[in-house]
Amino acid sequence: MQPLANVTPFKPGSRAGAIQISNVGQVFKTATQDVVALSDVSLDIKPGRFVVLVGPSGCGKSTLLMMLAGLRQQTSGTILINEAPIPQPDPNRVGVIFQEPSLFPWLTAEENVEFPLALRRIPRSDRRAKAVDALKLVGLEGFGKRHPHELSGGMKQRVSIARGLVQDPPVLLMDEPFAALDEQTRMTMGDELLRIWAATGKTVVFVTHSLTEAVYLADEVVVMSARPGRIVDHLTISLPRPRTYEMLGGETFGTLRDRIWRHIRKSA
Ligand SMILES: Nc1ncnc2c1ncn2[C@@H]1O[C@H](COP(=O)(O)OP(=O)(O)OP(=O)(O)O)[C@@H](O)[C@H]1O
Ligand SMILES: [Mg+2]
Repeated sequence: MQPLANVTPFKPGSRAGAIQISNVGQVFKTATQDVVALSDVSLDIKPGRFVVLVGPSGCGKSTLLMMLAGLRQQTSGTILINEAPIPQPDPNRVGVIFQEPSLFPWLTAEENVEFPLALRRIPRSDRRAKAVDALKLVGLEGFGKRHPHELSGGMKQRVSIARGLVQDPPVLLMDEPFAALDEQTRMTMGDELLRIWAATGKTVVFVTHSLTEAVYLADEVVVMSARPGRIVDHLTISLPRPRTYEMLGGETFGTLRDRIWRHIRKSA
């Protein structure tokens, strides 16, 4: 699989994609009370790792991703991406993919992928070439001229991933990106994502409620407790890659999934 054209290739050993979260807390001030969403979260993510966050609903996973994306500032602690703070969104360092593809319905797939490049005034021919490359990488070659309503749910989510990839940030944040998809499409998309990740060497932080998806995709699974969210376990998933469907029924897989489930059940 070829890397995206016209982009700086990932350099193994560089700090591009490193994430350091130190003693981070988030308190939301509402009209009636202060909501402590996250408390004392510390996590060191090495460049190129695939890290999955799991935890009960409301434990602060999306809040943590928002802070990593520079969309919200933590109320305590520090966050460093490529060894620098992230006071505002920086698409050159961090790309974000949300649960809903949120494509512009009046733009074609290609134009949707080009959109962040157009905002940065990248010349039309360059951005078209990058969009075509990114669509190819997500398996949508030949679908660039279609509008969102002409694409399936899985295809729309691929367009959204292509849009996240097009600026080639070293870090990709994904907040339940496959939650709206059926199980078969979800499995296929997981394999696609692993293929893209292996080809591009990005650091991925991925949120899911599916424990099977977590173990299947991850190098590391970080388990959070109910609010205020804290890290209660950090598992290394040493299953070999490429991951295969057969591994899902294996003993190692089952043991890892059970360990995560025990934490979640305790928090529920
Ligand atoms: N803007 C806000 N103002 C007040 N409270 C908020 C705000 N955003 C989030 N919260 C609260 O912070 C906590 C964490 O929310 P967050 O959305 O990060 O959880 P989550 O782990 O992503 O949940 P889910 O799995 O349901 O997506 C929740 O209790 C939520 O109600
Ligand atoms: Mg969430």
